[in-house]
Amino acid sequence: MTCSSRADSRQKGLFPSIASVLRSLALVAVVWSLTACGTAALQVSPEYQTTAPSADGIGRVYLGREIAQTMGHQGAGWLDRPSRVLQERPRAAIAALDLHPTDIVADIGAGTGYFARRIAPLVPQGRVLAVDIQPEMLALLQTELEAKGIENVEPILGQLDSPNLPPSSIDLALMVDAYHEFAYPREVMTGVVAALKPGGRVVLAEYKAENPMIMIKRLHKMSVAQVRREMAVVGLEWVKTDDSLPEQHLLFFQKPA
Ligand SMILES: C[S@@+](CC[C@H](N)C(=O)[O-])C[C@H]1O[C@@H](n2cnc3c(N)ncnc32)[C@H](O)[C@@H]1O
Repeated sequence: MTCSSRADSRQKGLFPSIASVLRSLALVAVVWSLTACGTAALQVSPEYQTTAPSADGIGRVYLGREIAQTMGHQGAGWLDRPSRVLQERPRAAIAALDLHPTDIVADIGAGTGYFARRIAPLVPQGRVLAVDIQPEMLALLQTELEAKGIENVEPILGQLDSPNLPPSSIDLALMVDAYHEFAYPREVMTGVVAALKPGGRVVLAEYKAENPMIMIKRLHKMSVAQVRREMAVVGLEWVKTDDSLPEQHLLFFQKPA
């Protein structure tokens, strides 16, 4: 009896000990999943990874590309530099867009409207929606519009994650030297696709990352392969790549009809 009692008491002492260890482990697992794991799922969108920021980057990586810093309005004068005519050939770039007079064109990341202002006369029965996230850029654009008497350009304040455009309202979304610095490219492009009419077009002008001789900061250039990868994930169909400009690719996409 005594031995048996001792054995029973040892067994009783042993089993609760394993059970309590298992309970503790289970508790740790539950707490971990509700804190570390759960928090990670809430804070980090699966589309983006985080890295130590490069000199010209924001430390957010999208489909293998670190997103560039936004060009501040303090540098807006650079957008209207006279040398841009030779460097970017805006007349040839706009001719390549093959615009129709009734087109509704969204210039996303319009800045001071260097392109919006030049496109406006080509869409006399349409208009240009000039979207930017910096009110200061839009104020500079407004001043230019008034000075030049341009009436069919409408400044629109966008958000970091939305172009703030109505659904199925635009024929063409143009992004010149801008897309690479969108902090939430997937979300903005999802909004752009929703804003396009069926069959509507998207055109990106980006400095050629494949050419190391082009003196533009690394993250402010994009390769054809990268642009195509990023447009494909939001359902845009690649149409063509025009490499006739000296330093930029013009990439054309279409929303399926
Ligand atoms: C380098 S500037 C180019 C401006 C203009 N496209 C041009 O070629 O003159 C890039 C512009 O994109 C704007 N931008 C950055 N992120 C944006 C976003 N998520 N939505 C709209 N505009 C954005 C910036 O505020 C800046 O004015």
